[in-house]
Amino acid sequence: MTNAPTHAVPAGELLIKSEGDIVAARRAVRDAAAARGFAQTEVTRIVTAASELARNICKYAGEGVMRWIYMETDTSLGIELQFTDHGRGIADISLAMQEGYSTGGGLGMGLPGAKRLVDEFEIQSTPGEGTRVALKKWRRK
Ligand SMILES: Nc1ncnc2c1ncn2[C@@H]1O[C@H](COP(=O)(O)OP(=O)(O)O)[C@@H](O)[C@H]1O
Ligand SMILES: [Mg+2]
Repeated sequence: MTNAPTHAVPAGELLIKSEGDIVAARRAVRDAAAARGFAQTEVTRIVTAASELARNICKYAGEGVMRWIYMETDTSLGIELQFTDHGRGIADISLAMQEGYSTGGGLGMGLPGAKRLVDEFEIQSTPGEGTRVALKKWRRK
């Protein structure tokens, strides 16, 4: 489902730089998605995707910010999660999006897995400047 929001309201932001911040981010996303009325299975999908992005910030950029935004159209309610860092960036995004690709000895499933779990997935990155990932999830009113 893809939508152009008629309303988008910033709802919160969190600094992410430690393992504890990943836990806090998971909790914040869980609460925000539940408050938005998503069913439990959808809440879990959104939390799982957010967890991967928060972990990437810690692991590859050192620190960054997660912002969450409530969206609305005539027929749908949604949540957008933005992950922004000013770390090393990603030189080849299509490579980073491939399953099994990791420069950190990981499983390389974080980015492709997160993409599958949400309705819209955008990634922008500039080597030496940082990375921004935006996830959107929608539900019908
Ligand atoms: N925020 C980021 N900053 C810099 N590089 C990143 C960031 N997020 C992901 N990457 C790069 O993309 C690769 C793939 O990420 P991901 O799919 O989450 O797998 P994994 O974390 O297991 O390596 C990482 O190994 C890393 O090279
Ligand atoms: Mg990862």
